[in-house]
Amino acid sequence: MRGVAFWFVATGSVFVTIGMLGGIAMSIAGDHMFAPAHAHLNLVGWVTMALFGFYYHLEPAAGATTLARVHYGVATIGVIAMVPGIMFAIVEQGELLVVVGSLLSLASMLIFVVTVLRNRA
Ligand code: HEM
Repeated sequence: MRGVAFWFVATGSVFVTIGMLGGIAMSIAGDHMFAPAHAHLNLVGWVTMALFGFYYHLEPAAGATTLARVHYGVATIGVIAMVPGIMFAIVEQGELLVVVGSLLSLASMLIFVVTVLRNRA
């Protein structure tokens, strides 16, 4: 695996490792307050990122474009903003970060929709 495909899967692997450590920490503490942040880190940060990576691996032409690199940046920053943003929202310390992260994650998915449609065989 190479290029954008590699970076999506590699970054997702790091996200899920942090997510698992967070899950273990929640279990040890017996406090599941941040379960929604954990769920989004694992599902948007790992499952979704990995699916993007496998798609770009299967469609190397799509992965070689500037749009694919932009997609990686938008998706990654989206997760990095959204997950702490959810935590801030839970402890009622503001919602700006989760709004920014959510919109970037949505933008990432819209880029993917365009990419899939553009690369129809
Ligand atoms: C070491 C691995 C993991 C541990 C120890 C762990 C631990 C936890 C804990 C303690 C909760 C809260 C349960 C509750 O309050 O009902 C939770 C919720 C959840 N976890 Fe994990 N988890 C792990 C991995 C994963 C992975 C890999 C995913 C997804 C790919 C995932 C997705 C979720 C989801 C969707 C929820 C529900 C969140 C919610 O109810 O708001 N977890 N997990």
